[in-house]
Amino acid sequence: MKGVVLAGGLGTRLHPLTKVTNKHLLPIYNKPMIYYPIETLVKGGIREILVVTGGENAGDFLRLLGNGRMFGLEHIHYTYQEGEGGIAEALGLARHFADNEPITVILGDNIIEDDISGAIREFEKQGSGARIMLKEVPDPERFGVAELVDGKIVSIEEKPAQPKSRYAVTGIYMYDGKVFEFIDGLEPSARNELEITDVNNLYIRDNAMTFTMLKGWWTDAGTFESLYRANRLVAEQYIQ
Ligand code: DAU
Repeated sequence: MKGVVLAGGLGTRLHPLTKVTNKHLLPIYNKPMIYYPIETLVKGGIREILVVTGGENAGDFLRLLGNGRMFGLEHIHYTYQEGEGGIAEALGLARHFADNEPITVILGDNIIEDDISGAIREFEKQGSGARIMLKEVPDPERFGVAELVDGKIVSIEEKPAQPKSRYAVTGIYMYDGKVFEFIDGLEPSARNELEITDVNNLYIRDNAMTFTMLKGWWTDAGTFESLYRANRLVAEQYIQ
């Protein structure tokens, strides 16, 4: 299994914090944000990792992460997203890296307490299709929201005003090689992005989507509120 960390985008919701640096280089307690998703993949047993980044500070990722020795890795791959065309566009840049093998994708601002190795093993057993990780949250309207019927996901809506459930789609996705065909067929959404939710709905249409409920806490860190929450949750592991 290969791993992809998506750390592109311009992080404009965090201005002025992100005016002169990339969101994923901001601190979460005692480490830069990007460390956490990389550690999540490494703890899940993934050794081959691609970081997709962008913006004016992309070079800083190389200076910070190098070949990933601090994570016990021998090498980290990098690629560059021009602009902010969406999560699915950023993932499209991983096509050559993936080379038709299954991939686990994590958003660069998603921080979790849990270990995803169980879900990765389940996906490997599954053999094809996709698997996502869900988490029950109090504010589902901020996320992609899964509608569940008889224990199966029947649809996902991106940031719905009236969510059909409290199950947020977290930024951890597992895909087979078909994901790149799906990305090729996408049209930009109303916010002018290629949406990962559209990709996931194509897997649902093909009856090829499964899910795992994430245990432990989960947060994104793309707004002032969630960035603060991420810091607090991580700090609580160190400070009683
Ligand atoms: O955090 C989970 C949520 O992430 C999901 O529930 C949503 O379905 C999904 O669309 C996404 O929602 P956001 O609107 O919060 O995503 P955001 O634009 O903040 O981007 C999240 C990460 O994705 C960001 O830290 C880096 C990466 N990204 C994003 C964009 C727009 C890229 O690499 N390139 C991009 O162009």
